[in-house]
Amino acid sequence: MFEYLSATKTDPILGLMAAYRADTREHKIDLGVGVYMDDRGFTPVMKAIKDAENRLVKFENTKSYQGIAGDPEFNQHMLALLFGEDHTVLRSGRIKTLQAPGGSGALRVGAELILRAKKDSRIWVGTPTWPNHIPLLGGAGLRIAEYPYYDIATRKINIDGMLQTLRSVPDGDIVLLHGCCHNPTGADLTHDEWDEITKIALERGFIPYIDTAYQGLGVGLDADAYGIRSMARSLPELIVASSCSKNFGLYRERTGSITFLSETSAKAEIVVGQAMAVARQLYSMPPAHGALLVAMILGDTGLRRSWEQELREVRERIISMRCLLTDRICENDAGVDFNHIRDQRGMFSFLGINASQLKTLRDQFGIYIVSSTRINMAGINSGNIDYLVSSLRSVLK
Ligand code: LMR
Repeated sequence: MFEYLSATKTDPILGLMAAYRADTREHKIDLGVGVYMDDRGFTPVMKAIKDAENRLVKFENTKSYQGIAGDPEFNQHMLALLFGEDHTVLRSGRIKTLQAPGGSGALRVGAELILRAKKDSRIWVGTPTWPNHIPLLGGAGLRIAEYPYYDIATRKINIDGMLQTLRSVPDGDIVLLHGCCHNPTGADLTHDEWDEITKIALERGFIPYIDTAYQGLGVGLDADAYGIRSMARSLPELIVASSCSKNFGLYRERTGSITFLSETSAKAEIVVGQAMAVARQLYSMPPAHGALLVAMILGDTGLRRSWEQELREVRERIISMRCLLTDRICENDAGVDFNHIRDQRGMFSFLGINASQLKTLRDQFGIYIVSSTRINMAGINSGNIDYLVSSLRSVLK
């Protein structure tokens, strides 16, 4: 039967990661996959994670099944991290969280749950969005519609276009939003813009589905959750998929959560039951290791302090690389404006060069960038900035 299969396209991000790894040039630079790298170009295990792992090795006394919803302590801590310890919704009985296999697993559980609620559901995604959103959500069976998000020409959010489209979204549709550190553009909504979208969601009756994979990498743990927290205060229903890949550096451990806010506590019980049935059909139970570490860190004052400090350093390094690149490349022969990079948030920004310049950077200079021109700021460091800037200048001539 395999003869019926034809070759598929390689994933735009993970394919690039493999190509970079296979490249033997010493001076190559990885600005592709969204993974944090320190100034040596290395992706370290965070110190709090190492410390928690050491404790886990000592005290873990069983590997027995945990249950479909994963670790209950992890789920409680994730709720507090996402919504803030004192959020009224946490005491309402209206909110339920399940541990999920990474942000992608969380997104898929959310999509399947939506389809259980309403078979022909439609989700509106911003243009552009993370390239895997459409196959992941569309592959589950959701119909995809688009709203304009980023304007390449002005290098800003097309807020008028976005709001105008959202004002036409029908009751019961789903709208995908990025919680913070927009992937791929780095252009985040302001608080006023979040508030306006909340107002429109209330008026129109659509349900926001927030994907948050970079909490703490933009402005700070609380500031980066503004949209989630304010929407949860006003809206009857909300879905939040979250990932611990970036802010805990747990990429390969596949650690995330999916949260559903329902109109009443009785409905919340039904929703979580259905979400557990989805998980059981897809993967049965989420992997335990990463979630046990996150729960331990968030529940221990010392580990938490260490994690927050390291996360602050990660964030500050990314911001400093934004400033460094902008300062170094601002004046260039081609007159391309890179100032937006300084002001955007999180790991990514669009460089905004053309496809042939992008190809030259990869073929001639060994600099790997996603085809949308998304660059990972954390791939820049003091050892490669000169080479990066001279290569960019040479393709921009
Ligand atoms: C990215 O956007 O580079 C990361 O989220 C990795 C991925 O799975 O695409």
